[in-house]
Amino acid sequence: MLYITRKERFNAAHKLFRQEWSDEKNMEVFGKCSNPNWHGHNYDLYVTVKGKINRETGFVIDLKFLSKLIKEMVIDKLDHKNVNLDVDFMAGRMASTEVLAETIWQQLEAPIRSQGCQLHSIKLYETENNYVEYFGDENH
Ligand code: NI
Repeated sequence: MLYITRKERFNAAHKLFRQEWSDEKNMEVFGKCSNPNWHGHNYDLYVTVKGKINRETGFVIDLKFLSKLIKEMVIDKLDHKNVNLDVDFMAGRMASTEVLAETIWQQLEAPIRSQGCQLHSIKLYETENNYVEYFGDENH
């Protein structure tokens, strides 16, 4: 089994808050990420695919296909956008890095499987110091 990773970047705004909570409680739970007037992050996204080498091409997956897929399904929808307001696949969800990673997985999993390989992980850096890794759910 081989693992191959494509890195992409996007910049996006968000805030973490629950409407039904007071400003004080939002600040207590979410800290600066609850700032009512939004703030941004420079996200680094690593998409790792696993599979066997296709002996005809020497590839696990065609990286042109993978980069186009990530661009269309993820980057174009997130880059320079407001995660809470603008992104169809994040509607009604908390705009946390954890939920973003899980949702990006859901965007990419089936199209990658259609190429005869598997999505292995989504690694998403929100800051230099904080990142989330998602490996899918057991029952998927
Ligand atoms: Ni934030």
